This record gives sequence, structure tokens and C-alpha cells, in this order.
Amino acid sequence: MLQVQHPQPVAQPARAAAPSGPGPALPCPHPTTPWALDNLPPFSPVALKLLNVLNDERIHVDQVSRFITAEPVFSARVLQIANSPLFALQRQVTSIPHAVIVVGLDKVKAIALTRALGDYIAPVLRRKALLVCWRNTLAGALLAEMLAPACGLDAGEAYTAGLLCDIGRLALLVKYPEAYTNVITLSGEHSHDLLTTERTLFEIDHCQAGCWIVGQMAMPAWVQEAVAHHHDEEPAAPFRLVHVVRAADRLADTLGYSILPSQEQPCFEAWMNELPPEFAARVNLDPETLRAEIERKLQAWS
Ligand SMILES: [Fe+2]
Repeated sequence: MLQVQHPQPVAQPARAAAPSGPGPALPCPHPTTPWALDNLPPFSPVALKLLNVLNDERIHVDQVSRFITAEPVFSARVLQIANSPLFALQRQVTSIPHAVIVVGLDKVKAIALTRALGDYIAPVLRRKALLVCWRNTLAGALLAEMLAPACGLDAGEAYTAGLLCDIGRLALLVKYPEAYTNVITLSGEHSHDLLTTERTLFEIDHCQAGCWIVGQMAMPAWVQEAVAHHHDEEPAAPFRLVHVVRAADRLADTLGYSILPSQEQPCFEAWMNELPPEFAARVNLDPETLRAEIERKLQAWS
């Protein structure tokens, strides 16, 4: 059995280790607040607005521009990241309305959401193990964005789903930075997968936690599905966004962005084979080139 240090405050008695494997799914959304998610540090108002407008196709570009520019510090940080290698825009953007014109509303929402989530977890990123979690999330989102068009899916939605699929982990590590660092250490030492250790310590894994979080918001079904099922052994057919996010998440591991680098990873080609053959044939990605490209983009966070 794993010996894990319970996060403080201790809200529940210690329990036996959860069984390995995906475990029983919690109802999604969970009917009551799981104790581990009680009193989570709140997302910023602008992050909540961004999350809530993801599903609103009627929202006017001016409304999004207005509520981002209403927060000048955040707005400046959005522009900084928009002009960084992470998004590699063709033209430099100088204001949020300018960015909307140059790259479109969906891209601006994705950039701003990245900035908002980055700000949310910034207080814990001085812990190297937790910075690795954030880089794993970003690498997965970038890979999902790259894979999606070859699979006939929307690159922007794939990026957003890839970014949000681990929102439960980000929330847990912001609330329990020390305990989540222990999750990573103990998973590595005992060769457990992270979900098993999360359930042992928090009585909820990050998919279930994310499911509860997005269940509190008006999030699109494709986000909810990616959050809840991106670690499933085999999400049901037909091939769709959750499959791309799942493959991208595993590819990120094989490219060196695993949270548990000590554990054996399937090879890059094995995960590419997760794509249907007709899609895989359209993706001509060399792992070394891909890793260099992702690393160049991730420099924005170092
Ligand atoms: Fe995950």
C-alpha cells in the first residue's frame, strides 16, 4: 500500500489504496462537492468569463474584447503570450481588438484561456514537479492542435480541449501543492499511475475532479468529454476530439513531457498507431522535429 501524506486540512479518514485501473466513474457532474475540491482557490473573474463563453457561439467579438481589455494587467499579459513563440502569430498584435482582427476570436479566446490558466497555477510553478505538470498540459494541447486537422477536426477546439483536459489536476495541485508533489514522487517510486495515487490520496482522480469543475460551468460537450475520458482505455467510436486529446496526451509523454519520466513509455509510433490509418497516413511528424518545435514554444513559460 502506498504511504501518502494526507493534505491539510485532513477532511477524511485515511482509506485503503484504491485499486489500480480506471476505477468506478463518479457521476458527472458529481452531485455534491468532493471534499478534495471544497474551497478551491477561485479562478479569476476573467478566466470564468472565458470558460463560460466557450459554449456561446452568439457572443459578439466586442464583448470578449471588452471583458479582456477591462483588466489591463491581464490584457497586457495576453498580448505578451500572443506575441511569444507559444502561439507564433504571423503578425505582431498590439491590442486585444487588433488580435481579434488578425487571428480571430477563437484564437484570442485560446490565448487568453492559456494565460488565465497559467496565472491560476503560477503560485505553485516554483516547484519543479508541478512546472512539469503544466508543461505536460501545454505540450498535449499543442499536439492536439497539430493532429486535429489531419483527422478532420477543428484545431482550435482540439487545443482548448487539450488545455482543459487536465483542469482537475491543475486545481488539485494549486490547492495541495505539497501533496500533489508527493503524488508524483510516490507514483514514480512505486510504479503506480498518477490516477491511482490521486484516488488514494484525494479519493478522486483528476478526470473526476475536472468533470466536477466543468460540470459547474456551461462548458461544451466536447470539453466535458475530453476532461472525463481522456485517460479511458478505449473511448467508444466514432473517432472524435476525445480520441485526439488522448493520443496527444500520450504523444506528449513519449516526446519527453511525461510527468513521470521514470516510467516506461510506449514509443511514439505506438501512439501514432492509435489514430485511424486513414488519418495517421496524413500525419507526417518526425518525433525529433516535433519535440524541438514544442520546446521552442514552451520557452514562453520559462
Ligand atoms: Fe490527464
